[in-house]
Amino acid sequence: MLLFISILVLSQERVELQSPSGEIIIRAGIEDDSFVYGLIYKDTVRIEHAELGYVFANGDSCKKLDIHTYEERTVDEIWEPKWGQYSSIRNNYNEIYVVLNQVNSDRQIEVIFRAYDDGVAFRYKSHDATDSIVIISEETKFRFKEDMDVWWIWADYNTYEKLYKKTKLSECEHVAAPVTLKSQSGVYYSICEADIDNYSSMTLLKTDLFEFKTNLVPWADGTKVKTSGGFESPWRVILVADNPGDLIESSILYNLNEPPSKQDLDWIEPAKYVGIWWEMHLGISDWGISKNRHAATTENTIQYIDFAAKNGFDAVLIEGWNTGWEDWGKAEAFYFSTPYPDFDIDSIVRYAKSKDIEIIGHHETGGDILSYEKNIEKAFQFYQNHGIKYVKTGYAGGIKPEGESHHGQFMVNHYNKVMRTAMYYGIMLDVHEPVIPSGLARTYPNLLSFEGVRGMEWNAWSEGNPPSHTCIIPFTRGIAGPIDYTPGIFDIDFSNSLSEKKKWNDLDDGKTAVHSTLSNQIALMVVLYSPVLMAADLIDNYKNHPALEIVKEIPATWDDTKVLSSEIGEYIVIARRSGDKWFVAGITNENRRGVLINLPEFLEPDKTYDCFYIKDHLLSHYEKYPEKYLIGHKTFKSNETPDVQMKEGGGFVMIFEEKK
Ligand code: NOJ
Ligand code: CA
Repeated sequence: MLLFISILVLSQERVELQSPSGEIIIRAGIEDDSFVYGLIYKDTVRIEHAELGYVFANGDSCKKLDIHTYEERTVDEIWEPKWGQYSSIRNNYNEIYVVLNQVNSDRQIEVIFRAYDDGVAFRYKSHDATDSIVIISEETKFRFKEDMDVWWIWADYNTYEKLYKKTKLSECEHVAAPVTLKSQSGVYYSICEADIDNYSSMTLLKTDLFEFKTNLVPWADGTKVKTSGGFESPWRVILVADNPGDLIESSILYNLNEPPSKQDLDWIEPAKYVGIWWEMHLGISDWGISKNRHAATTENTIQYIDFAAKNGFDAVLIEGWNTGWEDWGKAEAFYFSTPYPDFDIDSIVRYAKSKDIEIIGHHETGGDILSYEKNIEKAFQFYQNHGIKYVKTGYAGGIKPEGESHHGQFMVNHYNKVMRTAMYYGIMLDVHEPVIPSGLARTYPNLLSFEGVRGMEWNAWSEGNPPSHTCIIPFTRGIAGPIDYTPGIFDIDFSNSLSEKKKWNDLDDGKTAVHSTLSNQIALMVVLYSPVLMAADLIDNYKNHPALEIVKEIPATWDDTKVLSSEIGEYIVIARRSGDKWFVAGITNENRRGVLINLPEFLEPDKTYDCFYIKDHLLSHYEKYPEKYLIGHKTFKSNETPDVQMKEGGGFVMIFEEKK
């Protein structure tokens, strides 16, 4: 690690920080009583006069400040994550640590700026000795110089499960983070946050034509953040890129978090899984036992374990194993250590162990945090006693205590408490209905994956997700971290289960289907990264299906990742390496298109490769013939640039392995 430090103590009005390449510059200083910053990229001012600061409940604000001292340093290090898009990550930035004095008060505010080659970040710190600090507004602004295209979802304080809109920046309203923008000259930005801890998560309110202002998700009483003895905000991050693929390749959110403090992390492992899940969403069975359609029975689970073991999966999810589903919505509905009588947990975990299959336990809380926190130690202890190391959590429902929202500080503190408790009990998490991920998994690598997106389930019981949706989320929600999208549906029109399907969700109009081709479904397993990677369909739909051979090959972690070509909302082609094999996957929106795969960009020169592929058939179309596909092997020289046709809502996967 290279580390240069210089401390400068002088009273001045302005500081400047350059990224290692010199292409990104942040300038900050006092203007008209306020501390403001600007962003320069490739010699052009992109953000200007953007205010920083706070309003506190006692009436204080961050006006009349003085730069007291500042300190600079450079960090250049390589670290190895437990799982992810890369087997090693470079963390290289310049930092400036500014201490500001408030004139006529003894308050000091610190602002730390970091400039990376893929973006900038800053956070606030205060070591206020007063017992309690209540923030009623964070004033951080993102004040761009021009109108841009923006991909955004409405800032709902309880859910991110929405379809993205694309509008001009001038037409945006109140948006969730991450939000992704494209300037007229083709520069891409994404605004997001890293290390959300003991703080509220951020939404962005349009406060001027080209300006967003941070709007923190409030507590039930309307205040935003409550702490004592000081506070540290999450990092405010602006990714800057010349093409959209660079946004996906960035590791900036992990780099902004601390390395893990616990050294024994050998038990943390990514996993590819199948499970008792899709059948309930389709309405052919139930989570609870009362309707005589219970899915998580001993017999069904054993079948899943057998299938997983036979086909190279690592784990089986068991939703609906514990009592309480009949009382969803009531206080203290769920029992986290009580199996339904037809689920013999002891023999199931014994059988799974004999087959080398992990069980993914499930905690649906229904949002009842009071009950979950009361039971959490016992619940994790129960899993630990049964050798269950993976747990999917869920928060579908209004938060108890009433008035708190899923994305406010109350829930941030809850999610982080669950993450820390799980770490203590040796448990890895897959969090549904989460607060947006923020790179905390660098410090807590047991925090594997998250939903926080309109995922596959919506195709089972609503109008579903259009093909363009999965061409947008890698560049928006995906920037924040892994997505447990649960792809891999083979029975796309549900024809194999129509006779058993019962409507259970009001959004179901009887015309549900997955809106993509089968090749697209498999491509999503490569495109949308998740270290717990589900093949979500019923195992009966996989048995003896030739396309399962491709699914079997796809791992849940990668050594390297390169986005080969992409356009937000249109298509993406990504290459990921696992050991010696390269997996290239592409998906397209409603439009068919051909793409050229430039093999020299990732294969070694002068070599011959076998390519095992799945791609769309001439007739494939997400509405007509979605289940048609072509599968096979082909030989390529590494200097070739094959072209691949993706049909409407289609996609492909090509697996390259050197021929020896
Ligand atoms: C919503 C989750 O996203 C889904 O995966 C889960 O099956 C249900 N809640 C029930 O917990
Ligand atoms: Ca959900």
